[in-house]
Amino acid sequence: MRILLTGGAGYIGTHVAVELCTLGHDVILVDDLSNSCWAAVARVESIVGRSVRFFHTDLRDSNLLADIFSAEQPDAVMHFAGLKAVGESVAHPLRYYDVNINATLSLLQVMGAAGVRKLIFSSSATVYGEPEALPLTEENRVGQGISNPYGWTKLFIEQILRDLAHSQREWEISVLRYFNPVGAHESGLIGEDPAGIPNNLMPFVAQVAAGRRTHVNVYGNDYDTEDGTGVRDYIHVMDLARGHVAALNHLVPGVSTYNLGTGRGTSVFGLIRAFEQACGQTIPVEVTPRRPGDVAATYCSPAKAAEELNWTAGLTIEDACRDSWRWQSNNPGGYPK
Ligand code: NAD
Ligand code: WQD
Repeated sequence: MRILLTGGAGYIGTHVAVELCTLGHDVILVDDLSNSCWAAVARVESIVGRSVRFFHTDLRDSNLLADIFSAEQPDAVMHFAGLKAVGESVAHPLRYYDVNINATLSLLQVMGAAGVRKLIFSSSATVYGEPEALPLTEENRVGQGISNPYGWTKLFIEQILRDLAHSQREWEISVLRYFNPVGAHESGLIGEDPAGIPNNLMPFVAQVAAGRRTHVNVYGNDYDTEDGTGVRDYIHVMDLARGHVAALNHLVPGVSTYNLGTGRGTSVFGLIRAFEQACGQTIPVEVTPRRPGDVAATYCSPAKAAEELNWTAGLTIEDACRDSWRWQSNNPGGYPK
């Protein structure tokens, strides 16, 4: 198939692109490079051993996007593009609503006009807000306790997709709610390359191990969890990539929603211990107050994806730390800029 990946130069997009190419699909990457770079696309090409179609475009430019669709004739779209920094979304809500919502509306309009109605959307565990129950199933309540505009954009887009599929029965949409994506491709050539100070735990730990930062701030050790630190469901990005392939292979009319996670929780201290094993160093830590908006624990039930998509996450937190460390130690400053 020919699959168009919006945000295809980003962290998850590059890994999915590699997986799709490896399986013999053609990919078309569209990205405005607002949070990524050309070098990431070049690295994808070097892993898969062939050139990849790439368009440097903002999705909100619907005329340009329509030209790309008419020239490239994709069969399906995976929609990764968007802004994703939680704290930044609190400071700049209108920017988040503009980019995430308007880019999606532009994409859906262009897809509809081009007759492309197969879509996989990157949603997030963040839509569950304060978890109603653990493990989280797709039937659990969403929206209650979402603490930032980023999370609302994901929930609003899910609703837009349901309304669209309700109005036009030809749409086949899979909404994938990622838990905490971590790790890197085993080549060490692509990985997560956050701009500035990482917001997320794993890239922060990796940068401490690489000597770019002195210590990890552990945001609270007084939660009601096994060791007092926050518990999350960390999913290896290559498992996530295979989840997208499974979703593509099982698209059906309407909107289907799946959790993509391991079903296992790991604490902050647990992740740091696993990273120490992977890099062979001690990671200095400092316990600080809780980060506003954080929940104590969240992890999913991946049973629906296992049953309907025949997909489960096979890699462990140890695998993710090993691969993340390979990427970080081979590329201490991230991609060549
Ligand atoms: P990323 O920032 O690495 O990738 C997103 C890409 O979209 C970037 O390359 C960026 O340049 C591009 N982009 C942004 N606005 C654009 C626009 N208007 N037009 C074209 N391209 C644009 O992020 P990621 O971690 O790869 O995340 C991919 C998707 O998965 C996002 O939608 C994100 O919200 C979602 N998600 C990520 C996580 C996570 O922890 N990484 C968790 C859950 C969901
Ligand atoms: C994990 C744990 C922190 C950094 C976020 C988004 C979510 C999704 C994934 C996009 C928590 C603790 C963190 C640090 C720490 N993204 N921590 N020190 O908050 O679960 O999820 O990314 O959709 O929407 O909210 O991930 O990696 O930031 O935090 O102690 O320097 O690590 O408190 O317990 P989070 P995270």
